[in-house]
Amino acid sequence: MASRMTAPRIRAMKEEKTPIVCVTAYDALGGRLAESANVDLVLVGDSLGNVIMGQATTLGVTLPVMQHHVRCVATSCKTPLLVADMPFGSYGGQPGIAFDNAVELMRSGAQAVKLEGWYITEIGMMVRAGIPTMGHVGFTPQSVHVFGGHRVQGKGDDGDAIVDQAKAIQDAGAFAIVLELMPPELAQRITKELTIPTIGIGAGPHCDGQIQVFHDVLGLTPHHFKHAERYIEGESLFESALKQYCQAVREKTFKVEVE
Ligand code: KIV
Repeated sequence: MASRMTAPRIRAMKEEKTPIVCVTAYDALGGRLAESANVDLVLVGDSLGNVIMGQATTLGVTLPVMQHHVRCVATSCKTPLLVADMPFGSYGGQPGIAFDNAVELMRSGAQAVKLEGWYITEIGMMVRAGIPTMGHVGFTPQSVHVFGGHRVQGKGDDGDAIVDQAKAIQDAGAFAIVLELMPPELAQRITKELTIPTIGIGAGPHCDGQIQVFHDVLGLTPHHFKHAERYIEGESLFESALKQYCQAVREKTFKVEVE
């Protein structure tokens, strides 16, 4: 078995110009598939609020829910770096709250955490205490109501502010940063100006790596997002297999073998 990917190794991949492959996973099956596909980094994303819980936003995802899914993925995901998202409300306020919650996610099986936005004190505190931390700028889904919907960020004057945020997150000690929903030129500029890897989603091809939501890549969502290429139409394949099963049971052609 290959040795576990680490945060310093992910960082080094930028210098080596090796593209970094990242995907989300939420359960043991996702972890196993990411493992066998040789993914570099698996994120237990709070996007599970959308794709697992069926909610419109990620705001309903709590720390115990994240811990539960981290434990599930950790059972099968042994080689990729396993990163846990810090959910809405688990940071902000007192910096110590972020630290305590990050510790809980690490104890559940994560090797690193990710948080959205410009939380410099929190990132510094976590990194100093031994918790590799990823940043996330651009469109940050936990702030969907501030943005007024799923909107591309940094199209105008706010581009410079996003560059400054990314630099501050790097200076605080983050080992990598997600760039979500921003013009490709802005993502390219950030990628050039930072020494830590940029991981894009809806941010064009110039990032050091890409991350995709498991269900999007495998065609397991009803929506076709522009930023997500579907490599298989999973939902219709599963549906057709389930229909075959229903038919076999109803027509009494289902083969039952006793173990
Ligand atoms: O929760 C998530 O899946 C994420 C990715 C979209 C980066 O944060």
